[in-house]
Amino acid sequence: MTVKQVTERNDSLETRIIKTLTLMDQDLPTIPVVLSQIMHMTASTESSVTDLIKVLDQDQALTARILRVANSAYYGLREKATTIERAVVILGFDMVRSLAVGASFIHYFSPKNQYENFDLNAFWAHTTAVGVFAETIAQELRLTDSADAFTAGILHDIGKLVMLIYFEKEFSQVLVRVAEDRLDFSEAEMVELGLSHATVAGILLRHWHIPEVLVWAIEHHHEPLKAEKDCSLAVCINLADFAARYIQIGSSGSPYLQPPSIELLKTTNLTGGGFKNILKRLTRKKEDVFKLISALD
Ligand SMILES: [Fe+2]
Repeated sequence: MTVKQVTERNDSLETRIIKTLTLMDQDLPTIPVVLSQIMHMTASTESSVTDLIKVLDQDQALTARILRVANSAYYGLREKATTIERAVVILGFDMVRSLAVGASFIHYFSPKNQYENFDLNAFWAHTTAVGVFAETIAQELRLTDSADAFTAGILHDIGKLVMLIYFEKEFSQVLVRVAEDRLDFSEAEMVELGLSHATVAGILLRHWHIPEVLVWAIEHHHEPLKAEKDCSLAVCINLADFAARYIQIGSSGSPYLQPPSIELLKTTNLTGGGFKNILKRLTRKKEDVFKLISALD
């Protein structure tokens, strides 16, 4: 049975998405082994440089891409990193792991088609900015592991890609609702479809056996306070998502944004003024983020 046949049935949208993703081995790209291994390392404290090098040895093209990004203007290295070992010495292990996830994810999961109503370049610019800002916010507020924050930031809107590629009609309906009712994307999804891209991302990432800490945060990135357990990574993504849109880097599908609630800021011991200061500092990083976006392209 093909995905098309499944999605043409009269099941609920959530059931159709689950069935689509369950059949993904034949119709959707599976997560590359190398990327999966690196992502598991990101969530593990026991991985070593040797493990990372061993994994990257399986994919020379990815290694070359990582080195290209490491040597890009974003990192501004005085000395060229010619090997992964050297990159780890200069940039640090966590940064090279994050970079490997960013470089491979965008490369593998960029749809080949162009979509009339949705600008994919702006989408990747948005997710890259969220990755960088989430990493910075995690460090500044000592909220959570900053490498996990970068990875979760890059992946946070992957549910939109699934909807765009496999449920194009429903995705377009959401875009119309966004424009007509001036809604945030996830609010428009709830009105139009009754589920959001965050839920879709959760289904996909669990299917891929991505570490639960990342899945949990991505699933709750629009409503971190509704999470029943520690939500600091989800809060981090939520704040970074707002920052990327406020600072206007790329686009995530809706220009209508609501600032984070005081209640949400309180979970990080931030006041409104404190968050404004963070936004000012992140705004100064705008040019750097563009350098990373063009290096990852
Ligand atoms: Fe989102």
